[in-house]
Amino acid sequence: MVQFNLPENSKVLKGNYFKDTTGSVNIKKVNIYRWDPDKSENPKIDTFEVDVINCGNKVLDILNKIKNEIDPSLTYRRSCAHGVCGSCAMNVDGTNTLSCMKSHKDISGDINIYPLPHLKVVKDLVADLSTLYRQYESIEPWLKNKENKSQTIEINQSKENRKKLDGLYECIMCACCSTSCPSYWWNGDKYLGPAVLLQAYRWIVDSRDEERKERLKIVADKLKLYSCHTIMNCTNSCPKGLNPAKAISSIKKMLATN
Ligand code: SF4
Ligand code: SF4
Ligand code: FES
Repeated sequence: MVQFNLPENSKVLKGNYFKDTTGSVNIKKVNIYRWDPDKSENPKIDTFEVDVINCGNKVLDILNKIKNEIDPSLTYRRSCAHGVCGSCAMNVDGTNTLSCMKSHKDISGDINIYPLPHLKVVKDLVADLSTLYRQYESIEPWLKNKENKSQTIEINQSKENRKKLDGLYECIMCACCSTSCPSYWWNGDKYLGPAVLLQAYRWIVDSRDEERKERLKIVADKLKLYSCHTIMNCTNSCPKGLNPAKAISSIKKMLATN
């Protein structure tokens, strides 16, 4: 059997235990991945006992409570707290999700929280999304008209054409899908991944855009597009209920029939 040896400093160790000090009768144990680039220490899992009586329902409320009342050094991203900005994506209980949408009441037992998987960690729960943003930029996610029409006149769209954007425009680029895709784990530097490909498709099918052919050319690449093997993890993990796998197969179909 093949044996893999991980480098010594990649082992996740047991961290600090923060005992409840409130005497609450409803305590949840929350295990959180911690890593600080400024300390030359291994990553560790800290455990916090959290009084969930005096806490909102969402996992993000628990994180805010820990940061405000127990350990201010806990680091994570968040902004809107309403599933709109996509910044609070993380792995909760083994699933990539938005912590502001996930209710901790749905989790029985301890809550385990990690950063989005298979990305470099910036600090604690903050994953490095710079490659994903570069890939997003590469598909040129803005309306393109040959004569810059959109700057001078209103470009109308029929109801039928507008409908084609449903299930696409709602994407908030949270990266839950891409970081649950095995093809993206192994080839994240070359394969665009489900989030960026869904966005690419959103512009390809926009009737107001005049660069469909050029857009298809940008993604028509063995590694950028065809690394998708229809495993469907992406669709299963999207917290907005979108279907990036379907968008990817629609791009493949367009390329095969155009
Ligand atoms: S498709 Fe869903 S999971 Fe993927 S980036 Fe968009 S909103 Fe997030
Ligand atoms: S369907 Fe494609 S993009 Fe989605 S998880 Fe599978 S390989 Fe990744
Ligand atoms: S904080 Fe904006 S989506 Fe969660």
